[in-house]
Order: sequence, then C-alpha cells, then structure tokens
Amino acid sequence: MKLKYSIVLCFLCSFVFSQNNYFFSGKKWKDTDGVHINAHGGGIIFAGGTYYWYGEFKTEGKGGNTALKGVSCYTSKDLYNWKNEGIVLKAEQNPNSEITKGCIIERPKVVFNKKTGKYVMWFHLELKGQGYDAARAATAISDSPKGPFKFKKSYRPNKGVWPVDFKDEFKSATANESSLKSWSPEWLTAIQNGLLVRRDFDKGQMSRDMTVYVDDNEKAYLIHSSEDNLTLHISELTDDYLDFTKKWTRMAPAGHNEAPAVFKKGGMYYMITSGCTGWDPNEARSFSSKSILGPWKALGNPCTGPHAELTFHSQSTYVFPVQGKKDQFIFMADRWKPDNPIDGSYIWLPIKTADEKPILVWSDKWNLSDFKEN
Ligand code: DGJ
Repeated sequence: MKLKYSIVLCFLCSFVFSQNNYFFSGKKWKDTDGVHINAHGGGIIFAGGTYYWYGEFKTEGKGGNTALKGVSCYTSKDLYNWKNEGIVLKAEQNPNSEITKGCIIERPKVVFNKKTGKYVMWFHLELKGQGYDAARAATAISDSPKGPFKFKKSYRPNKGVWPVDFKDEFKSATANESSLKSWSPEWLTAIQNGLLVRRDFDKGQMSRDMTVYVDDNEKAYLIHSSEDNLTLHISELTDDYLDFTKKWTRMAPAGHNEAPAVFKKGGMYYMITSGCTGWDPNEARSFSSKSILGPWKALGNPCTGPHAELTFHSQSTYVFPVQGKKDQFIFMADRWKPDNPIDGSYIWLPIKTADEKPILVWSDKWNLSDFKEN
C-alpha cells in the first residue's frame, strides 16, 4: 500500500516540478515533451480557451534558417507550458512548388476571420535559391487553428497601385534620380519621395519582415518591410483577409525598419520595430499613432536598462494581449542563432506604457501575476 502511495506521490511531484510557472527569457524553453520550443519569428492567437503559437521551424547548422519542414504550432492554456502540435504548414516536396523544401518562410502570423470562419496565415516567402530577392507575402488557410494550413499563393503586394496619400508629383521620376549615391542625403530624400515605390510599381511592392494586425472593427492589415527594407508599408486586407484592398500607406520612409509588432491600448496604436542588421541585434524603435494608417510619431527606443541598445540581444516579432487581463500585452522577440538556428531563444517581456510610450524592462524571471488585474 505504502509503495503505491509513494509511486503516486513521485508521479505528482515530477509532474508539478516539470511544469513551467515563469517566463525565463533567453533560456531554453522546454515544451511538454522536454524539447526546446521550435517556433521562431512567431505569432500567437487565442481561440476556444487555448493559445496557439505559430513559428518558423528551424533546423541545425548553417542551412537551418531555410524552410526544411515548415511552420510549427504549439498550444497552451497558461502561456508557460506548450504542447507541440507539429508542422501545420508543410514545406512541399514538389520542386515546382513556391513553398518547396529549402525556400525561406519567415514570421508566420495567423489570424481568425469571423466572417468566413477560417484561420488565415500570412508569412514572408523567399523562393528557393533566390536569396531574399523575391520579397513576397504569402497566404495559407485552414478550418482549424491546429491546421493543416493549405498554401494559397505568394506575391508582391499592391502591384500597379499608389499609396492612398502619395503626392501626384511623386508619381514620376526626377531627372537624376538613378545616378544618386546610395545613402547620400539626396538619395535618402529621393527614397522618401518614392524612388523605390516607382521602381516596384509595375511588379508589386516588396514584402519581407511582416506582421498582421486585426483592428477592433475586424479590418486587418499587413505591415511589411518594403523598398529594400527602407520603408514600412501598411496594406489593408480584404474582408476575408486573403488579399489587398488597394488601400495602403507608407510609414517612416527611408527609416530602415524591420520586425514590426503592433498593439492598441487606450485607443492609441503602438508599433515596435528594429533596425536592419541581418541576424545581429540592434536598437529597437517605437512609434504611436491615432490611426493604423498613420501618421506615426517616432518615440525612440522602448527598452531600458542593461543591453537596451541591443533590444536585450533580440529582435521584435510580435505583441499579443493576455486573456483576462485588460490592456496587458506581452512583447515577443527572437534571440537568433544563425550558426545553429534551432538554438534560437525567445525573449518575452511585459509591456508597460507611460506618457503614451511603450516601455520594455528586462526581467530574468517573471510571470503573469506581475501584471496588475484590471
Ligand atoms: C532580419 C529579419 O528580421 C529576419 O526575419 C531575417 O529576415 C533576417 N533579417 C535575415 O538576415
């Protein structure tokens, strides 16, 4: 009898002690099988009482940043303990597929469309063997948040469409613009005045780092690094979230922003971004606006304390609201490991706001009780 109780006790203890009750940014984060979570550049939704975390499934070694498997999904009830649900969008065997194994799939974001009842995934796609030249936005769709997601299409946004607020005088090239020296003040002014929007007008605007934001009125937007990563574009999506409405605008022209992450608090939109230094970390930036389409006001680096100038050695990827805690948001970032991408870790921090500015303070160990109830 005693032995029986001891076995049950042992089992309960091992269960309790293997549970996560805190976030430990930058450390190995074990899923419920004891394996480091593999969902990089990710995004999170809440559906039917469960959180779903989608991300890039990375592999070992130098080629590990290419899509050899696809997009992974993990589920959790509490945000600390995550169960691996497997690959929900598979990189395809067919060499003619746009998402053939070895292409690049980055920053997948899933949103639920209330009108169609479908889960829509947007991601940054680079065609196999073409480096980062294709710069496409891509979609996949599923009936269930657990997938499988079916690939729909990839393309460059806003082909043949000018931004809504683009001045007429910017629609034609100026005499000497092709001979301007890159990064000269004249060249930066020309970029601000639409040099690269004009260049890509016929073939569609570039779309690299991206996020999707769904507003309170269910309108959704793709926010993507465009114009050789020099300018962010904010493109409104159609009601089914599967295409663009042709209403789009530019943000921080020539500001060189990547890794956009958006949230809304107290009627104000906030965006956190990074600079552009490949896989190396740099100083984050933040912005606010009264409208998702801008104008956006630059607010500077939201990080404070040691290593704030390198976003705590990470790069933003997403911001999501915590269920049951009004106006409390978690900032998600990636600490990339380009030499062995599977080892990349996650930085999760609570977002504070003060004087209409987001603030990120480093914390080695924290949990949801650090948020005040509303
Ligand atoms: C930084 C981006 O944010 C990542 O998603 C990835 O595209 C790397 N650059 C590639 O260098």
